[in-house]
Amino acid sequence: ARFFAGADWLKGKKALVTAGGTQEPLDPVRYLGNRSSGRMGYAIAQALQEAGAETILVSAPTDLAVPAGVTCIQVQTALEMYDAVLTRFSEVDVVIKAAAVADYRPAVQAEQKIKKDGTSRTLELIPNPDILAELGRRKTSQVLVGFAAETENLLANAQDKMHRKNVNLLVANDVTKLGAGFGSLTNIVSFLFPDGRKIDFPQMSKHEVAQHLVREVANLLGV
Ligand code: CTP
Ligand code: CA
Repeated sequence: ARFFAGADWLKGKKALVTAGGTQEPLDPVRYLGNRSSGRMGYAIAQALQEAGAETILVSAPTDLAVPAGVTCIQVQTALEMYDAVLTRFSEVDVVIKAAAVADYRPAVQAEQKIKKDGTSRTLELIPNPDILAELGRRKTSQVLVGFAAETENLLANAQDKMHRKNVNLLVANDVTKLGAGFGSLTNIVSFLFPDGRKIDFPQMSKHEVAQHLVREVANLLGV
């Protein structure tokens, strides 16, 4: 697990990582969520910290312990994550968006617990802002890393996201593969770069993926 131990590549750099799946409240006792465990993002925060970066973790709810030395800001919703990330963007050198952000939230958040009445219901959803796309529009010198979790057309969808969101590196992840993605301890990823480079990795632990990612981030920062 200490594959890159001793390498202080990111000393003096400031990094922000998002992790976990946002929760979008429906009423005081219910929310819309997703299957993200937060493990990939927490492993990245740990690897960045071990490489010497001052590391901020903006985390949606998870069961995980915050890695030693990492500053954690807890959020619940996509809008809270948006605020936490955007207010810090100008002061960081790299942002890694590993969080599974809800694309939609309930249009209305009921103040009281919604009661059943035996009839069918339709839930109205409204779009959340795309945090990564907004960072892509605002970025100056920051290195931006995005993730793409796909169940079909992995490469085409991932390349499209990379260009649309103006990221420097996109981690593509086929979540239908056994041993990849949500809930897994391991991941099978490819790194895509805007210049067309692509690196395919074999199945690795999320900690190993994080270490490879940190090494690429150091390259992109020119250190
Ligand atoms: N993302 C974000 N804000 C959102 C939605 C996604 O910052 N509101 C980020 C994720 O953290 C991830 C990247 O965008 O780094 C891709 O997320 P993904 O869900 O794969 O792509 P979407 O652009 O949301 O497209 P879709 O879900 O339709 O495939
Ligand atoms: Ca999405």
